[in-house]
Formats: sequence, C-alpha cells, structure tokens
Amino acid sequence: MAFTFQTQVSLASFNTFGLPATAARYGEILSAGQLVMLVRNGELAGQRTLVLGGGSNVLLTGDVEATVLHIRIPGRELIGSDDDYNFVRAGAGEKWHDFVRWTLEMGLPGLENLTLIPGTVGAAPVQNIGAYGMEVCERFMVLEAVDLKSGSLMSFDFKDCHFDYRDSIFKQEAAGRFVITSVTFRLPKRWTALTRYADVSRELAVRGIIDPKPIDVSDAIIAIRQKKLPDPAEIGNVGSFFKNPVISSEHFDRLLAAHPDLPGFRQLDGRIKLAAGWLIEKAGWKGRALGPVGMFENQALVMINLGGATGQDVRNLSSAVQRDVAEHFGVKLEIEPALI
Ligand code: EPU
Repeated sequence: MAFTFQTQVSLASFNTFGLPATAARYGEILSAGQLVMLVRNGELAGQRTLVLGGGSNVLLTGDVEATVLHIRIPGRELIGSDDDYNFVRAGAGEKWHDFVRWTLEMGLPGLENLTLIPGTVGAAPVQNIGAYGMEVCERFMVLEAVDLKSGSLMSFDFKDCHFDYRDSIFKQEAAGRFVITSVTFRLPKRWTALTRYADVSRELAVRGIIDPKPIDVSDAIIAIRQKKLPDPAEIGNVGSFFKNPVISSEHFDRLLAAHPDLPGFRQLDGRIKLAAGWLIEKAGWKGRALGPVGMFENQALVMINLGGATGQDVRNLSSAVQRDVAEHFGVKLEIEPALI
C-alpha cells in the first residue's frame, strides 16, 4: 500500500515537555524498508526532516515546517553471542525502559543502570544517554541507519559514532542526515553490579541488599529516579535541561575557595565536571518559576512545564538561569536537549 503523509498534525502529545506545535507534514515509520522506499521514490527530496522518537529530548519551540518522521520501528531479539558477550538488537521505536526491563527478564543484564530513562532505543545513542555511572556507548555494538540522501541502509560501529558526554556524530556533523532504525547492544556474560554512584549504593543499603542482582539495581534506580525526577506523564519535562559543565582545574580551584562545598568530578583530561543542578540551586532557581515554567523542586537541573508553556517561556527561563549561573560562577551552561 502506498505511504501517505498526514498534514497539520499536532505534536503536543508527542513531546514530553507538552509544547504546542503542529507538523506541516507527518509520517509514522514502521520499518527501515519503508524509509528506504520513501527516499528512493523521492518523497523526501528537497524536504527538511525532523526525526521524532519518544519526544523526550526535544523542545519544539514553534510549528514545524519540516517533514516529521515519527520512528515507531518495533522488534527486540537476542541475535547471537560469543564467549564474552550476548548481542541484543532492538528496533529504534521500542521504548527504552521497556527494552531494558525485557533484557533483564531474558537474563541479559548490563543495561540496568539506564533504567527508566524516557525515550526510545533509536534516540539512546544520539545523545549517548547516561546515568548512575554508565553511558550507553559502553554497551553499544553497532547501529543501522537510513541515509536520507541516498536511501541506503548503513552500519555505524562504535568508532563511527564519535560518542562523547551526551553527544555523538548524530548531534554533530551527521545531524539530520541519517535515521537510526535499529541498535545492537553487547551485554557482558560476566556481569558485575555497577553501584559506585552514591545514590545507588545508598538506596541498596537502605533496602538491606549487599550482593545486588541486576533486577535489584534496576529497582533501586527506579526508586531514586521517582524521588528526584518528575514523571513526564504527569509533569512536562525533558530530563536534564542543561549539560553538566566541564571547567579547567584552575577555575575549579578559584570557585572552591569561595564555595568549599562545590561538587566536582575530575575527568581523564584533568578538567573538572561540575553539577549543573548545584550551580542552579545556588543561583536561587531551585523550585522557582518564571511564567508557566520552572526549575524542579527536587532536582534543579530539570525544567518543568507548569501548564500551558510555550517555546518563548522555555527560552526566557533558560536565558535567565544561564545569565545568573554565569554571573555567580563564571560558568556557561549549555542546553542539553535539541531546540527545534
Ligand atoms: N545537585 C544539587 N542540587 C540539585 C541537583 C543536584 O546540589 O538540585 C548536586 C548534588 O550535589 C548531587 C549532584 O548535583 O550530588 C549530582 O546530582 P544527580 O545525582 O541528581 O545528577 P546530575 O549530575 O544532576 C546527571 C545526569 C542525569 C542522570 C543523573 C544520574 C546530566 C546532564 N544529567 O544529573 O541525566 O540521571 O546524573 O546519573 O548529565 C538526563 O540527561 O536527562 C538525566 C536525567
């Protein structure tokens, strides 16, 4: 059956911040083959495109003139193994959290620290999702993506993806060019729990668990996230609104002299990663609103929609927080989600 795009589709329920936006042209993609055909038939020629997954890392600040490709490609399977790893592939449209819990049910641990992160499997490598001491690139093997220029199905291995902190080639030079259709993960057969992160070890201790199983780590992380982070089904948000900034050790020492309780984490290159949530809290924005948006009371790094927010409201609060953090600490905060 021929594929038909819909016109004038509301995206309000397809972005977790709940911003009002209408797509001029919208199509639901259910397979890689379907996308290949659309490109080869010239359906996307000369068109700008916007790829939408779970809508949990995107701020739609106005109507979208581009063709929206809503990726709903399903599928998850164990595709093989070697002495050290099991290889698990999932369709880009699978919900990330459901996929993680499925791997645990299948006895294939390794992704449990990334439990309850909103969004889809296909979006996970784009911003190299991370939480509680792990980034998804550590479990990544390969992904398939359709080249919107040529219509060919391409493979990207670890090296090709240029992973970095909340970053990859798909946010940089390849942005807008490829649509990820499936991702294959490499899950270790010799599993050990990763519980160094203070919140995780504390939660396990509270639960009296000394030798945690994968499901215990996952359950503990659900509890931590539910305490600190708003549920996007109830309060519009896109998780962390800013990246944690990285500064020179000289800058850090100067700040530390004035703020002895400043948290900082030394990076491999000697620079120091700060906690943006701490900076925002100290700049007076935790639990404070500007119009219909505010910084969340339990985690100052998360911007929330108090109801009826527009793209302009998001921009206003974002600039105000950036300005105050820069004034207080001389640190520039960078927005983490994609601003459309
Ligand atoms: N902090 C405060 N006040 C706040 C929030 C945080 O003082 O309101 C300080 C505390 O000292 C705390 C430290 O910041 O110990 C770190 O806070 P938290 O453990 O909540 O983590 P985060 O650095 O704020 C990052 C990720 C989250 C991820 C958590 C847990 C980024 C941008 N964010 O937040 O990812 O869940 O670590 O690993 O790296 C996301 O990217 O959307 C996201 C939620």
